Amino acid sequence: MPDLTTTYLGLSLKNPIVSSASPLAHDLDGIRRLEDAGAAAIVLPSLFEEQINEESRQIDHFLSYGTESFAEALNYFPEMGSYNTGPEGYLNLISQAKEAVNIPIIASLNGISRGGWTQYARLMEQAGADALELNIYYIPTDPGLPGSTVEQMYVDVVRDVRASILLQLAVKISPYFSSTAHQASRLATAGADGLVLFNRFYQPDFDLKKLEVVPHLVLSNSDELRLPLRWVAILYGCIPVDFAITSGVHTSEDVLKAVMAGANVAMLASELLANGVGRIGVIVDEMRQWMEEYEYESVAQMRGSMSQRHVAEPAAFERANYMKTLHSFRPDPTGLRL
Ligand SMILES: Cc1cc2nc3c(=O)[nH]c(=O)nc-3n(C[C@H](O)[C@H](O)[C@H](O)COP(=O)(O)O)c2cc1C
Repeated sequence: MPDLTTTYLGLSLKNPIVSSASPLAHDLDGIRRLEDAGAAAIVLPSLFEEQINEESRQIDHFLSYGTESFAEALNYFPEMGSYNTGPEGYLNLISQAKEAVNIPIIASLNGISRGGWTQYARLMEQAGADALELNIYYIPTDPGLPGSTVEQMYVDVVRDVRASILLQLAVKISPYFSSTAHQASRLATAGADGLVLFNRFYQPDFDLKKLEVVPHLVLSNSDELRLPLRWVAILYGCIPVDFAITSGVHTSEDVLKAVMAGANVAMLASELLANGVGRIGVIVDEMRQWMEEYEYESVAQMRGSMSQRHVAEPAAFERANYMKTLHSFRPDPTGLRL
């Protein structure tokens, strides 16, 4: 029987499948269902900086960056009560979840600025969370705001949260840095024990009837895996952190690829939301079968085997691959394919 165990943020996990932050773990029933289905750990849906600051009435100036009107921006924030339970309820959910299930519970804090809100990390630790995921989701829209300032914001938030807790800390980041590898290294130096690649940015849409900008969430598909796959493969062995892949993990093949790139765990949200948490058991079984067939003894043995350091063609992750990809495309001679 292949050994599926892995480690992530100092936690021993029975397999590499983690339920990514989503409404699936919004309450105890959902959390129990995920454990029963075979998830190795659960990331709770995020508690947002805006929710904490709303309570303390201390909104950091960064929230108004690039918005025409600060007051209008505040009005746009939704009531999040139906998404998570608010700051107090969130801490209760952590402690109740710890009572209810045996798998690790990773709390998620979501914000962009420095400020008192980051102290909430300590409260999450005190409530019993096994680790913390910090999701930094920022859209820099001000033409006067240089990339270096944005990158420093990320580092500052990580440092603040790091200083608040002893727990291991993962940082969920976007793929949109000029130098992803450098920024990843800075985050590790600032205290990140793990990196979660990548945040999925939801693009707003236009409602042509109401002439309004509207939120529009489309679940992912497996094609989206390739972006985090590439970057974990590049960063594995270069930056001394654990890696989680999120975005586009839907099948056992996706999980196997994530591990081979160098991920400690693969996180799933869309697949479980669309097809039910029962998918976890199927994916675990299929992984086991594949590993038996290809004679892998353990996930640990497989991890990083397709990383840039270990493949025969390291250039496959770089510019050369771009040129090769373009070159490999063969237009349909009949012109009918599209
Ligand atoms: C409905 C929904 C709610 C989500 N809520 C959160 C959240 O609270 N915090 C967070 O960091 N990510 C959140 N995510 C992002 C997921 O955790 C995950 O990173 C993303 O969906 C990409 O993974 P996937 O391809 O498996 O869906 C949410 C995703 C969905 C679809």
